[in-house]
Amino acid sequence: MISLRRITDADSEQILRWRNSDEVRLFMSDQEPITLKDHQAWLMARVEDPTNVGLIAEKSSVAVGFMQFNILDTETTEWGFYKSPDAGPGLGREICTESIEWAKQNLSVSRVVAKVISTNIVSLKLHLGIGFELISEEAWLKLTGYERAASAHKFFRRSVRGPG
Ligand SMILES: CC(C)(COP(=O)(O)OP(=O)(O)OC[C@H]1O[C@@H](n2cnc3c(N)ncnc32)[C@H](O)[C@@H]1OP(=O)(O)O)[C@@H](O)C(=O)NCCC(=O)NCCS
Repeated sequence: MISLRRITDADSEQILRWRNSDEVRLFMSDQEPITLKDHQAWLMARVEDPTNVGLIAEKSSVAVGFMQFNILDTETTEWGFYKSPDAGPGLGREICTESIEWAKQNLSVSRVVAKVISTNIVSLKLHLGIGFELISEEAWLKLTGYERAASAHKFFRRSVRGPG
């Protein structure tokens, strides 16, 4: 069973190692390795910011993944995640399912949105498999207020309370 807890400074080294591993980095919008200095600034902001929540997923007390909820407005949070390159198959789905439950308990938003690089087959299947609905880029831009993505992505939405 997966449990989730807020990130702390003590997670810094591990998160950076996961984020810079080829298994994760090559599926991120920014594929450049993150420097320690940038990472530490990012982590400090995450630890303190109630609208941009970083979580560590643990299985049997071992850290297996990272989840981030970036709360965009009263209705919508964006999420992003990766698992440890050492974690076994199937854990991504478990982390995401538990994270939806966490959002239901801890956030007041009604929907989660996600942007996935079009070639990231595992993440595309994962989102569809846990009740996310594919939406147009126009719908995504409206929900998030972001700029149009430079490269090809797919966009998803899911109600926090249930699929759809
Ligand atoms: C995305 C990620 C968390 C998924 O974790 P995972 O443990 O590998 O995924 P799961 O084993 O839970 O599988 C998810 C789906 O992909 C499928 N899948 C897994 N490996 C696959 C592969 N090599 N080829 C095709 N499909 C695959 C699974 O069958 C499952 O589909 P289903 O729900 O329809 O059965 C993990 O791969 C990761 O950290 N990737 C790098 C970062 C990333 O892409 N983050 C998401 C950014 S949007």
